[in-house]
Amino acid sequence: MKVLLFGVGGQLGDALVETAPPGVDLHVSRAEQLDITDAHGVGQLVQSCRPEVVINAAAFTAVDGAEEEPALAMSVNATAPAHIAESCKAVGARMVHYSTDYVFDGNAEDPYTTSDRTDPLNTYGRSKLEGERLVLEVLGEDALVIRTAWLFASGGANFVHTMLAAFSSGRDLEVVNDQFGTPTWAPDLARASWELIRLDASGVLHFTNEGHASWYEFACRIGELALELDMISTSPVIRPVSTDPARRPAIRPDRAVLDKSGTWKLLGQPARHWEEALELMLKESRDG
Ligand SMILES: NC(=O)c1ccc[n+]([C@@H]2O[C@H](COP(=O)([O-])OP(=O)(O)OC[C@H]3O[C@@H](n4cnc5c(N)ncnc54)[C@H](OP(=O)(O)O)[C@@H]3O)[C@@H](O)[C@H]2O)c1
Repeated sequence: MKVLLFGVGGQLGDALVETAPPGVDLHVSRAEQLDITDAHGVGQLVQSCRPEVVINAAAFTAVDGAEEEPALAMSVNATAPAHIAESCKAVGARMVHYSTDYVFDGNAEDPYTTSDRTDPLNTYGRSKLEGERLVLEVLGEDALVIRTAWLFASGGANFVHTMLAAFSSGRDLEVVNDQFGTPTWAPDLARASWELIRLDASGVLHFTNEGHASWYEFACRIGELALELDMISTSPVIRPVSTDPARRPAIRPDRAVLDKSGTWKLLGQPARHWEEALELMLKESRDG
């Protein structure tokens, strides 16, 4: 199966390369080779490659940055995926695209199902929601949109690396304890994506690791495991705090936990718990 992948160099793009199953003839595109907002360039690449599946893991992922550059966020996260979808349609390719838990407002008590009402609180969430809408509009049954959350990987900038760097500096930390979500290991999402492609899945699906946590609980677990794994020598001091809306440009949902029951049914099993995934990622980082 010939697959063209956008977004290599990012956390998920790299994980998709690392986990590509045998039999996949993988062609990749990085940001420095082609800007996905270049509709002509994207169209030419898809025409010359003629893949059966196009995966778009490229995105403008800076949640606060999107408030400062809304037009760019919309262009990368909505207009560009729509052009990729049109290029797919022209060659009869299917498309896999990624979205976010931030399409929800986070006010629900229960995990969000794929058919729950969306109502993003920030520009990033709005741009991602528009991206999913356009991709599905162009490709219908030939599109799969996977919403995920709180990605981390041993390579790339993410919360785990931010915490590890802060622990090493020895300073006390304050981390918000009133925003809940599910930390998700990019390689687990990547492996599930390949399986969903094999199964010809389409429509909107949710994928995160199992369980949920606040950012504070996530930070504490990173600290505990890093100590156990000898990645730091003293237990970090982490204080729980409430969100101060004045501190960051983008409003975040309080509780964006996703219901994955439809995905587990297709895959035949749930994903591992985020704590188990975190331990694997930390061991991978430690062992280089
Ligand atoms: N990270 C999360 O916590 C999270 C949560 C929910 C959903 N998601 C979604 O999951 C997907 C993968 O996220 P990720 O964490 O792997 O993101 P990431 O690590 O930020 O990687 C995104 C990649 O896209 C590239 N890119 C950005 N703008 C581009 C452009 N105009 N043309 C070509 N490439 C461009 C980036 O290149 P540069 O680095 O050079 O800009 C980077 O390589 C995205 O759809 C994201 O919205 C992520």
